[in-house]
Amino acid sequence: MAKPLWKTWRVPVLLALLVLGIGGTAFAVLLPTDGARPQAVPPAEPIMPSATFAPLTTVSPSPIAQPSPQASPTALASPKASPSVSAKPSASPSVSPSAQPSASASASPLPSPTPTVEATEAVEASPSPAPAGPVDCAAVKCVALTFDDGPGTQTEALLKVLADKDVKATFFFMGPYAAKYPALVKQASDQGHAVGTHAWTHAHMTKQKPAEACRNAAKGQQSVVDAGVEKPAMLRPPYGSINDKVIAACPTFQFVHWNVDTEDWLTKDEAKILGHVKKDTKPGSIILMHETVEVNLEVLPKAIDWLRSKGYALVTVPELFGGDVPRGQVIRGGPAP
Ligand code: NI
Repeated sequence: MAKPLWKTWRVPVLLALLVLGIGGTAFAVLLPTDGARPQAVPPAEPIMPSATFAPLTTVSPSPIAQPSPQASPTALASPKASPSVSAKPSASPSVSPSAQPSASASASPLPSPTPTVEATEAVEASPSPAPAGPVDCAAVKCVALTFDDGPGTQTEALLKVLADKDVKATFFFMGPYAAKYPALVKQASDQGHAVGTHAWTHAHMTKQKPAEACRNAAKGQQSVVDAGVEKPAMLRPPYGSINDKVIAACPTFQFVHWNVDTEDWLTKDEAKILGHVKKDTKPGSIILMHETVEVNLEVLPKAIDWLRSKGYALVTVPELFGGDVPRGQVIRGGPAP
């Protein structure tokens, strides 16, 4: 009688203690490992596997939240589109004329298949996260990517690359094309990119009378406004052609040039374009590229990865200057730390 009692009380108690002991030890072992997680996350240096990461890293879900493209009431307000297209090529030798107004253009720009859905899953996969909040370019190495001669058939693809990489750039739109594709102008702005004008005709401002050059710039400016975007003060003179008389005649404009010329329109060569970026970029640089150069769709992600690998924060031109681009002078770059 005593034995069964002993067995009934002691054995289960001992077993329970044993189980608790093992469980406790295991718990004690597991806890520190979980807490010591740091080694699992290496410092966020830019890795280069754009091939692996790029499709996943739709880092910025919010800006992509597709604003209704038809929101701009301006599509109707730009009747000048067609005559102007012919006005532009007259002045520019190779800078885009033929590439732009291709037949497919009118069909493609509008539908913007920005992948809002996949964004949620992929956020933490980002190899090179963009800095959150405003960047102080007096304290951090900054660089601004700029695109001339659009909008056009490649704008949407460029915007997709920039969104995937969570980069904000600066676009200088040609008046006639902004009038032709107002939805693209609006889309670029809605996605957080800075917008300026590249004037209306692609003519040397220095070869026009100053007042005439200003009118041409203002007409380009108006095309951006007609697209539903805030009136841009930034002007990139075609060919960077500018002089003191024109600057004095157009005091409301911010004349934004560059100090890294990728010569993309000239070579259309990925290695050479990247070579210019790698050789010439310094803190505060403004990099000149063109929307119309097809290979830039390949170049752009690589340039972004390389710049980030060198510690650059990619910002818009206004951000280079803390939001306030100086007037009355030619801007070639921003402040450096
Ligand atoms: Ni141009």
